[in-house]
Amino acid sequence: MSYAPNFQFRIWSFDSDALDLERGCVIRRSYSIFKIVAVAVLLALPTSWVVPSVRAAEGPLAPVNLRCEYLKNPVGIDVRQPRFAWVLRHTERAQMQSAYQLLVASRPELLAQNKGDQWDNGKTLSDDSTQVVYKGKPLESGHSYWWKVRYWDKDGNASEYSHPASFEVGLLSAEEWKGQWMGGANQLRQEFNLAEAPRRARAYICGLGYYELRINGAKIGTNVLDPAWTTFDKRVLYVTYDVTANLHPGANAVGVMLGEGWFKSRALMLQMDIELASGKHVSVTSGPSWKAKNGPIVSDSVWDGEVYDARLETPGWDLPGFKDDGWMPAASVKAPGGVLSAQMMPPIQEVDSMVPMALTNPRAGVYVYDLGQNISGWVDLHVTGPRGTQVQLRFSELLYDTGMVNRENLQSGYRDFVAAKARDIYILRGDGEEDYRPRFTYHGFRYVEVTGYPGTPSIDSLRGHVVHTAVKTTGSFAASKPLLNQIHKIVRWSDLTNLHSIPTDCPQRNERMGWMGDAHVSAEGVMLNFDMAAFYTNFVRDIHDVQDADGTVTDTVPLRYGSRAADPAWGTAYPLLCWYLYEQNGDRRILEENYAGLKKYVEFLRSRAPDNVLRFSYYGDWVSLETTPPAEVSDFYYYYDTLLLSKMAEVLGNTADAASYAQRAGQIKDAFNKEFFDEKTGNYTTGTETANLLPLFLDMVPEKSRETVVSNLTYNILYQHNTHVTTGFIGLRYLMPVLTRFGYPDLAYDLAVETTFPSWGYMLANGATTVWELWQNKVGPSMNSQNHHMLGSVDTWFYEGLGGINVDPNQPGYRHVRIEPQVVRDLTSVSATVGTVRGDVTSSWTHEPGVTTLQVDVPVNSTATVSIPKDVEIAEITVHEGDRTIWEKGRFVEGTPGVTAGKFAHNQVIFEVGSGHYSFRVDGK
Ligand code: BGC
Repeated sequence: MSYAPNFQFRIWSFDSDALDLERGCVIRRSYSIFKIVAVAVLLALPTSWVVPSVRAAEGPLAPVNLRCEYLKNPVGIDVRQPRFAWVLRHTERAQMQSAYQLLVASRPELLAQNKGDQWDNGKTLSDDSTQVVYKGKPLESGHSYWWKVRYWDKDGNASEYSHPASFEVGLLSAEEWKGQWMGGANQLRQEFNLAEAPRRARAYICGLGYYELRINGAKIGTNVLDPAWTTFDKRVLYVTYDVTANLHPGANAVGVMLGEGWFKSRALMLQMDIELASGKHVSVTSGPSWKAKNGPIVSDSVWDGEVYDARLETPGWDLPGFKDDGWMPAASVKAPGGVLSAQMMPPIQEVDSMVPMALTNPRAGVYVYDLGQNISGWVDLHVTGPRGTQVQLRFSELLYDTGMVNRENLQSGYRDFVAAKARDIYILRGDGEEDYRPRFTYHGFRYVEVTGYPGTPSIDSLRGHVVHTAVKTTGSFAASKPLLNQIHKIVRWSDLTNLHSIPTDCPQRNERMGWMGDAHVSAEGVMLNFDMAAFYTNFVRDIHDVQDADGTVTDTVPLRYGSRAADPAWGTAYPLLCWYLYEQNGDRRILEENYAGLKKYVEFLRSRAPDNVLRFSYYGDWVSLETTPPAEVSDFYYYYDTLLLSKMAEVLGNTADAASYAQRAGQIKDAFNKEFFDEKTGNYTTGTETANLLPLFLDMVPEKSRETVVSNLTYNILYQHNTHVTTGFIGLRYLMPVLTRFGYPDLAYDLAVETTFPSWGYMLANGATTVWELWQNKVGPSMNSQNHHMLGSVDTWFYEGLGGINVDPNQPGYRHVRIEPQVVRDLTSVSATVGTVRGDVTSSWTHEPGVTTLQVDVPVNSTATVSIPKDVEIAEITVHEGDRTIWEKGRFVEGTPGVTAGKFAHNQVIFEVGSGHYSFRVDGK
C-alpha cells in the first residue's frame, strides 16, 4: 500500500514529461489517451490504494515541469548562469510561493541525498518560480548537472522536492574546440579505435549548411535540417548529442553527410569527447585524417530540392572496416567565421506523417497525390524498378482544373529571383524495394506530382511527412462557431509550417526567409499556441547578429533579401519580440542583453526623423486592399519603438533613459498628429481602417477626438465596406483589439466570421488549409502563396479577446492575469487555455440568454482579475462561484476561498482571485 502515492506520482510526472518537445503535436495526442487510461486505471484501483495517496497529496505539491533556459533537460547549453523555472501545484486556492530551495548537484546520487554540491540556495524567501538565475559554483564545459526544487507556500508549508531534472553544459569557450573545419565532398568519414567501453561520450557537431551525423551505421538523433539557419559569419550553432550508447570497444566509424542549406557550401566541425571505463579521455575530431567522397546526393538546395542517385550509395561507409579506397583525404575549408554557439531551442523534426487522401492520374504517366493539407516537409517514396529509373516528384499548393499541379506561384514578386524548382529526383539502384526521402531540402505543398514511376504507383507508394521546428503545443482554443475553429486550425498550420529554425514567411516559393514584419505580427499568437520562448530567444539573437554599428537591422533575418535599413514596420520586430518575450515570460534578461542594441536601433530611427516624423518606408501596410500612406505606418512604429524603449529602461531601472525616451515619445506623438491627423474630419491621412486604428491602438489620438476617430473607423468598416477587412497585415494585427477595447467586440466578431471576400471564411470557402498571403483568391504567376501566416494574427484575438486571457505587462510572465472574455452575438461558448510559464491559464465560458458561466484556472503563484460581462436582459445580477453566492443585490459577498474582492464597472462584474479553479455562474432577473 505504501507505494500507492508513488504510483500516482509517476502519473503526475508523466503528465509533464509526456509533453515532450521532441515530438510536438503527435505526442500530445497519445498523451491525452495516456491520461485517460491513467485516470481510468486510478479509478479502477481499490479505494484503499487511492485514498492514502489523495491524503498524502494535500497542501503544496512538488513542483513539476522543470525547465532550464526554457528547455526540458537540455543537453549542451552555453550559458554560464542558466535560468530555472518550475510550475507549482497546490490543493488549496489562492496559494503562492513564499520561499524555495533549489539544489544543483554534480552527480545524481548527491541530489538524491539532498546535497547540492554545485548550488544550494537554502530556503530563500522569494516568490520567483521562473527566471531564477543560477548562482552556484562555476559550471564546467561538458559536464552534466542535476537539479530539483521545493517550495514553501504562503502559510509556510513545504512541498516535497520535485523529481530531478538535468542540464548539460556544452563547450563554453572557443579554445575547447580541437577540430578543424573540413569539407571537400558531401560525405566525410573517419574510423577510430576505443581501447575500452565508453562510460560517457558526447558529440559536438556543427555541419553546414545541413548535416546528418552517423555512427556505426546509424543516424544520431532525430533532428533534421540541422543546424538552425544563422548569420554564419557571426554565429554558427553546434548541437550536442549523447553518443555513449552508439560507441563500443574496438573499431568504430563516424560518418557525416553535408548539405548546402543556406550556407551554400559545406563545412564540418566535429568533436567527440569520450570518457572510457577507466576514466581515460579520448577525443575524435574533424581533421585532415578524415576521408571524403561525394555520395548519392547529387545536388541539394532548399528551394530546388534534392537529386539523389541511389546507384552512388556506398553501403557500409558509416561502419568500421569499410574499404575507403576511392575516398580522398578531406579538405580543410575556410571557417564560416561565426562564433560556435550552442543550439538551444527545439530542433526541426519530422513531427507527423500523412497518408495521402487521393491519387489521380490526370495524364498518361503523371500521378498526382493529394495530402488534403498544405504542409511543410517532404514525402517518402516507395518504389521497385530497374536500375537507373528516374522518378521525379514535383510539389505544389494548387491544382489546375485538369488535375495537373499548378506551380505558377513558386515565384516571389521579386523578378531577379528564379522560381523555386521544388522537386526531388530519385534514381533507382534497381535491387528490389527502395525507399527514398530527402535530407537537405523541404517543400511547402499539398499536392505531389510523380512522373517516371516504374509501373503504376499506389496510394501507399508515398507518405507525407510534416517537418518543422518541433515546438510543443501549449495552447488551445475552441468556440461554438465552427468557422472560428476552422480559422484557428489553418492559422495553426501556417504558424507551425513556418517555423523552420527561424520564423519564415512561407515554406514553398523562392523565399522562406525571416521576413521581420511577418514575424512580429504573428509572434503573440504563436506564443499563445506553442512553447516558443527558446525559439524566439534564438531569433532575437539572430536579429542582434545582423545589427550594424549604425543601429540598422535588416528586412530579413538572417539577411538574404530586402533592405538595410529595414522598413521600420519590419525592423520593429527587434523591440517588439524582446518585449513580447518579456511580457509572456517575465524575461528580464532578454531586455538586459539587448538594451544597448535596441537603443542604437531607436537612435537610428531618430537620425532619419529630424522633425520627429519618420517617413521612410518600403512596404507600408503590406498586402492591404486600401492604401494607407506608408509614412504613417513607419512613424507609428517610430513612436511604438521609442515608447517601448522607455518602458524597457524603466524595467531595467534606468530612470534617466526611461524619462528621456518617454519625453521623446510624447514629442513624436504630437508630431504624428500634426502631420497625419485632420481634426476637422476626425480622420488620419486617407481615413482607411489602418490609418485610423493604428493611432487608436497606442492611444495617440487627442482625447477630445477619440470618439470621432473610433466612429470613423466603425463607419468605414460597416458602411464603406459592408463589414469587411481592408487592412494589410500590419493594420490587421491591431484591428480586433482596437474594436474590442473601444466597445465594438461584436463588430470584431462579425469581421472574423465573414465569409465573402475579403475574409478568412472566404479563404476557407475556396479550399484554404493554411492562411493565404493575400486576401484575394489568386493562383497565377504572381505573389500569391497559399501559406503565409501573417494574415492569421486574428488568432491572437481568439485567445485574448474571445477567450479573454491577457497578460498584464506590469506583472509579466502571467504573475497577474486579466481574464476578460468577450461574450458576443450568437457565440454560446468559448474555451481557451494558455500554457504559461507558471502553468495553464484557462478561460472557458458558456452563454445563453440570462445565464453566463465561466470556468477559470489560475496557476499557483499567480492572481487574476476576472471580468464577466452582464447580460443586457438582466437588471439585477447574481453571481455564484461553485455553490456559494459571491455577488448579490449589487454587492460583493465575502467569504469564498480565493475570491478576494468584487465590484461592478463598465457593465461587467469584476472579481479578484488567487490561484485555483473557479466555476462562476452569472444570472439574475
Ligand atoms: C514576403 C512577405 C514580406 C514582403 C515584404 C514578400 O515577398 O513574402 O511576406 O513581408 O515580401 O514586402
